[in-house]
Amino acid sequence: MTRTNMMNLSTLFASISILAVASSQSLTLYTGDQTATATSTASAANGTYTGLAAYDPTTLTPPTPPSPAVTSYTLTLPTNAQGVIDGGHQLSISQKGNFLGFSVELSIANSLMGASSTNMKVPFLNYMANIQNRAGSGPIIRVGGNSQEGSSIFVGGLEDGAILDKIKVSSGVTDTPLINYSLELFYLMANITSLVGADWYFGLSFNESAVDDPTGNVPIAATWAQEILGEHLLALSVGNEPDLYVDHNKRESGWGLSNYVSEFDAMTQSILTQGQLTDTTAFIGPSTCCQVVGFELDDVFNAGWFESNVNNLAAVSVQHYPTNNCKINGNVINAQDIFADFLNHTSAQAQVSPYLGNAATVQSAQRELVMLETNTASCGGFPGLSDSFGVALWMTDYALQMAWGNFTTALMHVGGQNVYYNPFTPPPSTESASKQWTTGSIYYSTLVIAEAFGKSNVSKVADLTPTSDQDANSIYHSIYGIYENDAPTRVVLFNYIDDNTGASDLQTTITVDSSVTSVSVRYLRATSVSEQYDITWANQTLGTSFASDGRLYGTQDTTTITCSNGNCIIPVPAPSIALVFLTSDALTNSNPTDDAKTEYETSIVGTGSATVNKQALETSNGQSVSNLTGGGTSKGSASSAEPLLLSTSGFKNGLISIIGITIISSLLLL
Ligand SMILES: *[C@@H]1O[C@H](CO)[C@@H](O)[C@H](O)[C@H]1NC(C)=O
Ligand SMILES: *[C@@H]1O[C@H](CO)[C@@H](O)[C@H](O)[C@H]1NC(C)=O
Ligand SMILES: *[C@@H]1O[C@H](CO)[C@@H](O)[C@H](O)[C@H]1NC(C)=O
Ligand SMILES: *[C@@H]1O[C@H](CO)[C@@H](O)[C@H](O)[C@H]1NC(C)=O
Ligand SMILES: *[C@@H]1O[C@H](CO)[C@@H](O)[C@H](O)[C@H]1NC(C)=O
Ligand SMILES: *[C@@H]1O[C@H](CO)[C@@H](O)[C@H](O)[C@H]1NC(C)=O
Ligand SMILES: *[C@@H]1O[C@H](CO)[C@@H](O)[C@H](O)[C@H]1NC(C)=O
Ligand SMILES: *[C@@H]1O[C@H](CO)[C@@H](O)[C@H](O)[C@H]1NC(C)=O
Ligand SMILES: *[C@@H]1O[C@H](CO)[C@@H](O)[C@H](O)[C@H]1NC(C)=O
Repeated sequence: MTRTNMMNLSTLFASISILAVASSQSLTLYTGDQTATATSTASAANGTYTGLAAYDPTTLTPPTPPSPAVTSYTLTLPTNAQGVIDGGHQLSISQKGNFLGFSVELSIANSLMGASSTNMKVPFLNYMANIQNRAGSGPIIRVGGNSQEGSSIFVGGLEDGAILDKIKVSSGVTDTPLINYSLELFYLMANITSLVGADWYFGLSFNESAVDDPTGNVPIAATWAQEILGEHLLALSVGNEPDLYVDHNKRESGWGLSNYVSEFDAMTQSILTQGQLTDTTAFIGPSTCCQVVGFELDDVFNAGWFESNVNNLAAVSVQHYPTNNCKINGNVINAQDIFADFLNHTSAQAQVSPYLGNAATVQSAQRELVMLETNTASCGGFPGLSDSFGVALWMTDYALQMAWGNFTTALMHVGGQNVYYNPFTPPPSTESASKQWTTGSIYYSTLVIAEAFGKSNVSKVADLTPTSDQDANSIYHSIYGIYENDAPTRVVLFNYIDDNTGASDLQTTITVDSSVTSVSVRYLRATSVSEQYDITWANQTLGTSFASDGRLYGTQDTTTITCSNGNCIIPVPAPSIALVFLTSDALTNSNPTDDAKTEYETSIVGTGSATVNKQALETSNGQSVSNLTGGGTSKGSASSAEPLLLSTSGFKNGLISIIGITIISSLLLL
C-alpha cells in the first residue's frame, strides 16, 4: 500500500484521539422494562408449538435406563501427574476457568450485547459476570460466523449510533444478512470488557475481491479492532468454514484448498501491509468445520498453511457440530432418534479424537487450538434436544474432553431466535417487552466448567472414566480428575442415566489421603435428561423461559461429604453431575467472588426492571472510568484499558461531521 494511505490512517487515529479527549459522556444503560412478569409459555407441547425455536417447549422421551443398574464404583485417584500417566491416562496442558465461552453471530451482536457502547444489555452482562466470578478471568467471546463473510463492511458510523445494520435479511437459518458494522461495535466490546473482563475473537470478511479492493476496508477494520480492544483482542478470524464456500455459493465450483491457502495469504498480507497492526501475531484460522474430503484441518496443515503462517497466527481454529438439522436432500433427522447419541461419554470422545494429532502439532509450535464455534447441531439444533438437561451434561463432558485433548478454548454458538441451541436468548423484539431472557440448558455447562477449573490458571485435566470391565455402565459414568500443581484438587462425576426412582443412582467412592476428613460437592441437577428449564447448579437456577435476568436465584448449596479412612462416598444421582472439591482451597478457588461486580442489580426475577448498579459498573476492575492516561494499547501493554476511556459520541460527532455516514475507508482515498 502507498505511504499516503498509511499517513492518512495515522492522521485519522490522531484526530480521533483529540476528538475523544475533547468530550465526555454520561453513562446510559439498557434498563429493561418495568412491567415484565415471570410467565412460562410452555403450554403448547405435543408438536403443536408454532412460535420461535428458541422458546420451543417441546420435550423428548428420555432413553430407558440400562439394566441391570450399576450402583457403585470405586475410583482410585492418582495422587499426582506421574500417577495419572502410570495409570495409562494423559494429563492436559494447563487450562483456565473460562475454557468454555460463547460464539456470537455478528448479525445478532446488537440484540444480544447491546445497541451501542453506552446501551448494553444487562442480562448479557450478568451471564458473563457469572463466569468471571468463578473463573477469575472474564469470558471468551467470539463475534463472527456466517454473517462476518462476503459483504460485511466496516463503517465509521451508522444512524443513531448503532453498532450494526442488516442490509438484507433472508429466511434460511444459515442464510445470514449482509452487515454494515461500525466502530461503535468495537467500543461496545471494549465496554463489555471493562465490566466483565471479556476477551474477544473478531471475524473479518474473507472476500477475494477485498484483496484487490483499493479502499482496504478489511485492513482498517483489523487496525481499529486492535486499537480499541488492545490485549483483549485475542485474534482476528480470517475466513469462516472455507470448506463450505463452494456449497454455500461463496466461491465458484472448483475452488478448493490451494485457492484457500493463497487467498488466506493474500488477505493477511493485505491486512499487514495496508493496516497498522501493533501486534502482527494477529490471526486465527482456518475454521474448517465439516469433514469435507480433502479440506480437513489435516489437509490444510499438509498444504503447508500452518508452517507458512505460524508467525502471524495467534491460534488455530476449527468449528464443529456433531450433527445437523439442515434437511439436506430431504434428509430429515428426527431429534428423538438421536437423543441417546448425546447421552453417553462415547460422544464426547468421538467429537474430540479426530483433533488430537492437530492439537499436538499446534502445541509444539507454541500456539493455541481453539474450537471457535460448536454446539449440538448445525442449522439451528433440534427442538427438545439442543435445549435439554441431557445436553447440558453432554456439553460439560465434551468441553472437559476438549480440554483434556489440549484445546485451549471452546465457544458455544449463539444464534438468533430461530435456533434451538442458544445458551441464552433475549426476548423477541417483535413481541411485547413484558418478556425477558430465556436461559438454554447448555449455559449451565459454562458454570460447571468455570468451577471445575477455577481461578488458578494451572488446572490440568485427566479423563479417568472407567472401562467397561470396571463398570458395565461406564459410558454413562464419565469421570474427570483436575490436578493443580501436581495434586488432585477436584473430581467431576457424571451420571447420564434418566431414572428418578433412585435405582440408577451411583455411589462413587473416591480414595484420597487418609488425612482427608471431608470433601465438598456441588451438583448440576434436574429430574430428567428431557427437562428444559427446571435445572439447578448448586441449588441455584436461572429459571424458566422469558424469566431470566442472567443471575442465579436460590440458595447456593454445597454438600459436605464425610470421609472415613480416606474413602469418600459421593452420591451421583441419575441424572446429574457432581463436582467434588477435594480441598477447601479448591472450593475457595472456584467460589463466585463476592464483590460488587456480581450485582448488576435488577428487581425480582421475571418481574425485572433491569437497573444497573451504576457504582458497580464504574468501579469494576478497580478502575475509574474518568482516569484518562496515555500509553500504547497493544497486547501486553499495561494501559490496554485506555481506549475504553475514549468517548464514542465525541468521536462520532467529529467523524460524521467530516464524512457523514460513509464507509470509513473512503476517507483514506480523499
Ligand atoms: C401432550 O401429551 C401428553 C402426554 O402424551 C398429555 O398428557 C397432554 O395433555 C398433551 N398436551 C396437550 C396440550 O395436548
Ligand atoms: C496434552 O498435552 C500434554 C502436554 O504436552 C501431553 O502430555 C498430553 O499427552 C496431551 N494430551 C493428549 C490427549 O494428547
Ligand atoms: C465480496 O464483496 C463484494 C463487494 O462488497 C460483493 O459484491 C461480493 O458479493 C462479495 N463476494 C463474496 C464471495 O461474498
Ligand atoms: C452412545 O453414544 C454414541 C455416540 O454418540 C452412539 O453412537 C451410541 O449409540 C450411544 N450408545 C447408546 C447405548 O445409546
Ligand atoms: C489467570 O490469567 C488471567 C489472564 O487471563 C489473569 O488475569 C489472572 O491474574 C491469572 N490468575 C492467576 C492466579 O495467575
Ligand atoms: C435450595 O434453594 C431453595 C430456593 O431458594 C431453598 O428454599 C432451599 O432451602 C435450598 N436448599 C438447600 C439445601 O440449600
Ligand atoms: C490514573 O492512572 C494513573 C496511572 O495508572 C495513576 O497514577 C493515577 O493515580 C490515576 N488517577 C486517578 C485519579 O485514579
Ligand atoms: C462506554 O464507552 C464510551 C465511549 O467509548 C464511554 O464514554 C463510556 O464511559 C463507556 N461506558 C462504560 C460503562 O464503560
Ligand atoms: C452499507 O453497505 C452498503 C453496501 O452493502 C453501502 O452501500 C451503504 O452505504 C452502507 N451504509 C452505511 C450507512 O454506510
